[in-house]
Amino acid sequence: MCGIVAYIGPKDATAFLLEGLQRLEYRGYDSAGVAVAAKGGLKVCKVKGRVADLAAAVPARFKGTTGIGHTRWATHGVPSDANAHPHTDVSERIAVVHNGIIENADQLRALLAADGVVFTSETDTEVLAHLVAAHSGEGVELEDAVRAALGQVVGTYGIAVLDAQQPDRIVVARNGSPIVLGLGEKEMFVASDVAALVRYTRQVVHLEDGELATVRADGFRTFTEDARTVTRQPSTVDWEVASYDTAGYQHYLLKEIHEQPGAVERTLSGRLDERFATAHLGGLNLDARELREIRRVKILGCGSAYYAGEMGAQLIEELARIPAHSEPASEFRYRNPVIEADTLYVAVSQSGETYDTLAAVQEIKRKGGRVLGVVNTVGSAIARECDGGIYLHAGPEISVASTKAFTSTVIAFALLALHFGRIHDLSPADGRRIVAGLKALPDHIREILKQEEQIAELAAEYADNAGMMFIGRTRGYPVAREGAQKLKEISYVHAEAYPASELKHGPLALISPELPTVALVPDDELLDKNLTTLGEIKARSGRILAIAHRTPEAKLIDHCLLVPKSEPELDPLLLNIPLQLLAYYAAVALGRDVDKPRNLAKSVTVE
Ligand code: G6P
Repeated sequence: MCGIVAYIGPKDATAFLLEGLQRLEYRGYDSAGVAVAAKGGLKVCKVKGRVADLAAAVPARFKGTTGIGHTRWATHGVPSDANAHPHTDVSERIAVVHNGIIENADQLRALLAADGVVFTSETDTEVLAHLVAAHSGEGVELEDAVRAALGQVVGTYGIAVLDAQQPDRIVVARNGSPIVLGLGEKEMFVASDVAALVRYTRQVVHLEDGELATVRADGFRTFTEDARTVTRQPSTVDWEVASYDTAGYQHYLLKEIHEQPGAVERTLSGRLDERFATAHLGGLNLDARELREIRRVKILGCGSAYYAGEMGAQLIEELARIPAHSEPASEFRYRNPVIEADTLYVAVSQSGETYDTLAAVQEIKRKGGRVLGVVNTVGSAIARECDGGIYLHAGPEISVASTKAFTSTVIAFALLALHFGRIHDLSPADGRRIVAGLKALPDHIREILKQEEQIAELAAEYADNAGMMFIGRTRGYPVAREGAQKLKEISYVHAEAYPASELKHGPLALISPELPTVALVPDDELLDKNLTTLGEIKARSGRILAIAHRTPEAKLIDHCLLVPKSEPELDPLLLNIPLQLLAYYAAVALGRDVDKPRNLAKSVTVE
């Protein structure tokens, strides 16, 4: 959520800043701004709207070789020109861009106002600009002023600071919100996400929490808040530059849906053991004895990560026969949960940055619990906070709505459940069945994706309704929830998910020709029950789009999309794929901004 970029070197900074912001726009997109240090002071340009609006607003004479930029998702104050970053002090000497939240902003505002500071925005970030300025006396180095300012601040931040009087450097700091340095030839880049850097350099340095860096054209120095120098070795970004492009697809979302077979292959790669019919997960940091002592599994995540966790809980219960439950991390962290030594906690996050999930992990750890992370972004805050875990290796996910990371998360849970199951009482035969089922998934997904045209037609037809009902039974219920989430997120069509068994206990009252139902009808032990539910809907003139393994009788449905049959435990993952395409094409039919849905952001790093 919110993106930061900065540049220092021989070239014009603005071109990189604008291009970098475009790359980070998926993280926040209600306003954007840039500042460059130029002869005679700072130049600042910021606007409400998209990065394209900013690019149009930047004057031709906006030149400088040191600069910072930001794309915002509003937390403190409405999206507006004034609330957009960078924020400056009264004399316009200091400019700051910031991700995160300054928790004591109100107290600091009051103190600064008492000293005569007049605020020009409603943001928490503006206090930082005034504080740095207040510490920037004659002969004070910018890094010392920033350290002094941060010493007064409580909260989370990734920041980049520019001083018109010291244009030979940018000072950056990290506490809970990522900052990455990109090393170039006599030039340096900064971003909150490598997506903005990969076109310019593959050599990067990730700052740790509590660290600062002075970045100059010819290098950088990292140090702690108490001015101790620390050494950081650069690492090489391992994703291809092309992973960050739309690769000819109309949207990142469509590209990411199509990338799923490859993403699944990477999540499985090197982890299946056919001989012992189990999975190898090197990063768990738990041996078989410790795993056998676990009596319960509690899975935590937000949004799609929570729904993927629900599928994960189902897999663990079925394959390992250990009680497992998924809960929104955003709820868990506020309800003083009971933390038990024989419960395994699993935090799920694509970005590894979601603040609610991170806070839940920290709360568990404070109380002595053990947490595994199921995370896509290597080295992210949640991954680092956990005791061990499973990386997804799904590749960068840019579109706000999660698809390939969702699928890879479910795969990671299938591996965990298999591993767990085989040290409990899952038979070798069942283990082999799951191993074979997992190996076949990429081809099964490819088969579903071939129906894209048919799904697009149905989506356009069904999008033309005020709302939609999604129903599924037991294993199918998390699929219904994720399907409804995807549709509402990107098409803004109201969608409600219900367990098929619960329909008659309330929501059946809603059924009418105007509220169609998407029904998950897998060919499993509950098929008859599901067919009965279809009959109940049809008897109330409801329209039905079935997602099934076999087409139900014509009188029970209006349309049907078929998916290949996998093992019953793995079926939910495949049943979900057509729902992704359904949501995508509904959003396209309604002319929505598919990759950047209104009011949302990719990684929510605030409470
Ligand atoms: C936001 C996004 C959701 C996403 C959730 C969790 O709310 O809009 O699409 O599922 O964050 O993100 P994470 O990175 O933790 O998986």
